[in-house]
Amino acid sequence: MSQYRDTAAGSIGVETVGASVKVAGWVARRRDHGGVAFVDVRDASGLVQVVADPDEIDTVADLRMEFCVSVTGEVRPRPDGTTNPDLPTGMIEIGAQSIEILSPAEALPFMLDDRVEVDERVRLEYRYLDLRRSTMAANLAARSKATAAIRRTLEDLGFLEVETPTLVASTPEGARDMLVPSRLREGHFYALPQSPQLFKQLLMISGVERYFQIARCYRDEDLRSDRQLEFTQLDLEGSFWGQDEVLDAIEQTLVAATEAVRGVRLIEPFPRFTWQEVMDRYGTDKPDIRFGMEVVDLVELFAESDFGVFKGALESGGVIRGINTGRREFPRSRADELTEVAKANGAKGLVWMVVNDDRTLRSPVAKFLNEEEITGIIDRLEGQPGDVLLLVADRWKTAVTVLGTLRAMLGRPDDHDQLAFLWVTDFPMFEEEDDGSITFSHHPFTTPQDVDVMATDPEKALSKAYDAVLNGVELGSGSVRIHDPALQRRVFEILGIDAETAERMFGWFLRALRYGPPPHAGFAFGIDRLVMILQNVESIREVIPFPKTQSGMDPLTGSPTIVEDTQLAELGLTLRPETRTRLEEP
Ligand code: AMO
Ligand code: AMP
Repeated sequence: MSQYRDTAAGSIGVETVGASVKVAGWVARRRDHGGVAFVDVRDASGLVQVVADPDEIDTVADLRMEFCVSVTGEVRPRPDGTTNPDLPTGMIEIGAQSIEILSPAEALPFMLDDRVEVDERVRLEYRYLDLRRSTMAANLAARSKATAAIRRTLEDLGFLEVETPTLVASTPEGARDMLVPSRLREGHFYALPQSPQLFKQLLMISGVERYFQIARCYRDEDLRSDRQLEFTQLDLEGSFWGQDEVLDAIEQTLVAATEAVRGVRLIEPFPRFTWQEVMDRYGTDKPDIRFGMEVVDLVELFAESDFGVFKGALESGGVIRGINTGRREFPRSRADELTEVAKANGAKGLVWMVVNDDRTLRSPVAKFLNEEEITGIIDRLEGQPGDVLLLVADRWKTAVTVLGTLRAMLGRPDDHDQLAFLWVTDFPMFEEEDDGSITFSHHPFTTPQDVDVMATDPEKALSKAYDAVLNGVELGSGSVRIHDPALQRRVFEILGIDAETAERMFGWFLRALRYGPPPHAGFAFGIDRLVMILQNVESIREVIPFPKTQSGMDPLTGSPTIVEDTQLAELGLTLRPETRTRLEEP
């Protein structure tokens, strides 16, 4: 009820026929037929058709797309043959008595029609118009429903919502920090949090036993369709908790969010796999299990093989694995393309085979294989005529990840609406960097499963870290935390962070661990990624109201922008001469 309207446009049904209503919204469409104007008026609730006679209402002549209007009129049934069963208001129309133009709109930069493809830069430059489109309005609504359901669930479970600061000292999550210069302490910088990780651990030490936050996080990394510089996590931590309690609480939030957005009740518990198992079966730690195409071990078959590639791999301790990619066209160009993908991912090559009708193989390497090996491959990979089989012989990690990459490229779920949530547990504690040094695989506050193994053979050490995966996307991660300062120091040492550096960077945190920290564990998942998949859209930019482009720009406000020298001077900063020169270039 307001001065401008008494009824939501999208809610008017046949039961309202005969009533006088006042609606307000935007002109979504205008058509003229036989001297009358048919104007679709859209508000946040939906759309209603207004019929107006330009001879009786003088504003009708001026009405154009996206004018903001208030319409008074009588609800009447649509004439036979003009009803639209696809629209909630499709059985009625409003016969206008008056139309007030609340504000006009200039000619639009693009059509606000969901079916029209518009360049993303232009959409972002006029994001306020882009958000008027019904798909975008639905994405915003889905996000709000998801966060509301998550909040309700966690409140019911006794969680406390706590805000942690966003001007912080650097938190190591493996990405580059975004820095904010301090004016009050020239030459010093805040970091924007990569996550609330250490603050939520401090809250456990504070006695907050169940913490959650819908937290904005910042990471200066290269952007992709599922990555932004700033993004939102559902962040959670529990004291006296281990993995099972965390997984259970997170599962409940995901179930509630999915039900709120999709209206479907997921089957619980979500399947759990160890890291070793998903790597062996799917060649990735974030498998899409909506389709099969699993990786198969072929070592036994080739134990005696004379084929140099296989023999060489086995002699140097490697493995031979394969996938059946199903029946598909397989011209030479495609084989070359996939071989390039395999090589780009570290393999020395790719063996491809197409199963012939007579259960022989069409393959450049068929001549090196005996009959037993050929039938063996077809049997193990359950090959049918026309199926394309791909094999890699290499170190275990290379072989499975290359096949995992090819699987993800070639596999298609039958049902695109299906949601396949799963857990991956028992991650390795460390991973090797390209330069051979070791780094943490989750973050350095994660508990090792076995301290002795970690000390003697860090490469084999597993951790109490776990991930949630949805449809092949990493949705979230968490771990059981270290609550013993001595163990925390050991982990830093193995990571090559010496005592002095640890003290300088995390001394404040290590000190807190000396005051009776409870055992604790937690998790965080990306809300943007969750809503992206629930809404079946290709990029998290579709579910973020005002995102940045792939190059980190906001075309709407022009950020990041150049600032005045006086502003820099106040912060004790000057630009490097070469940066200044570059800025002055046209
Ligand atoms: P992690 O670094 O794995 O864990 O992040 C958790 C989840 O946050 C989302 N995410 C992103 N979403 C969009 N854009 C990005 N740049 C981006 N980076 C991460 C992902 C990811 O799975 N503190 C730990 C959690 C914990 O241990 O409790 C953490 O932040 O969905
Ligand atoms: P080559 O003997 O190097 O000419 O390789 C013969 C075939 O095996 C080519 O199709 C290569 O792409 C492929 N190949 C080479 N090395 C490997 C490997 N490690 N795993 C799978 N295929 C390979």
